[in-house]
Amino acid sequence: MALVRLLLQFMMEIFVLPVSILQFVGVWDPLYKRFFPYLMFRITAVINDKMGKVKKELFSKLPDFAGSSGLTILEMGCGSGANFQYYPRGCKVICIDPNPNFEHFLEKSRAENEHVKVEKFIVASGEDLSQVATGSVDVVVCTLVLCTVRDIDLVLNEVTRVLRPGGAFFFMEHVVANETTWLHFFQHVIQPAWRYFGDGCYLTRDTWTNLEKANFSELNLTRITAPFKWSLISCHIIGYGVK
Ligand SMILES: C[S@@+](CC[C@H](N)C(=O)[O-])C[C@H]1O[C@@H](n2cnc3c(N)ncnc32)[C@H](O)[C@@H]1O
Repeated sequence: MALVRLLLQFMMEIFVLPVSILQFVGVWDPLYKRFFPYLMFRITAVINDKMGKVKKELFSKLPDFAGSSGLTILEMGCGSGANFQYYPRGCKVICIDPNPNFEHFLEKSRAENEHVKVEKFIVASGEDLSQVATGSVDVVVCTLVLCTVRDIDLVLNEVTRVLRPGGAFFFMEHVVANETTWLHFFQHVIQPAWRYFGDGCYLTRDTWTNLEKANFSELNLTRITAPFKWSLISCHIIGYGVK
């Protein structure tokens, strides 16, 4: 079966060769990064429809981590602001995303969610949060982002740096399926194409291992199956780690 998988992966690499060439000559990424926010904005409505209940329950714990002057959330890989609607009234939100083309869609979400105070949008990646002071935020939120970052461990180091002691990292991420399943097989076969059309996303990450070895004093992690029919991203982990 491993050989069949390798063969299919190779065929997939051939299939996406034109895109690989565009990537190599530096054309694909800048173009796709303009289109991706529009795509993500559309997909977000579907994701929130299917996962709204899960998000509502997860984010209902946010107020427990408010500091003495309220709740400050850093949303990493904020995208179009898909999570604002689940945040408690009056919280402050600092948004970070390396793709500046999300700003237009972020503004839309900001206008629709006046109960939260979106303070600023910083164009930066999670591996380098140097624009955020050490111990300055109560909560970091990250949904469907660790599948795409360049270095998960570096990101989690930065997360624990910017969190105040007792603050929490809330996550909801899709992960690789169990090795014995067809889903695991197809995640690996499709991956060569997925990385281009998913803006660098990996279907094959076992992100829970990074979370388990990060420096959280307490880690609440649950595995769930997201109700997306036939989806390659149905295996999710959700929860929060406390600094
Ligand atoms: C699939 S989208 C998810 C957006 C949003 N969090 C949501 O739940 O709808 C992935 C997001 O991660 C961002 N991203 C990619 N690489 C990143 C990095 N190294 N650090 C932080 N964010 C990153 C992308 O620009 C994009 O906004």
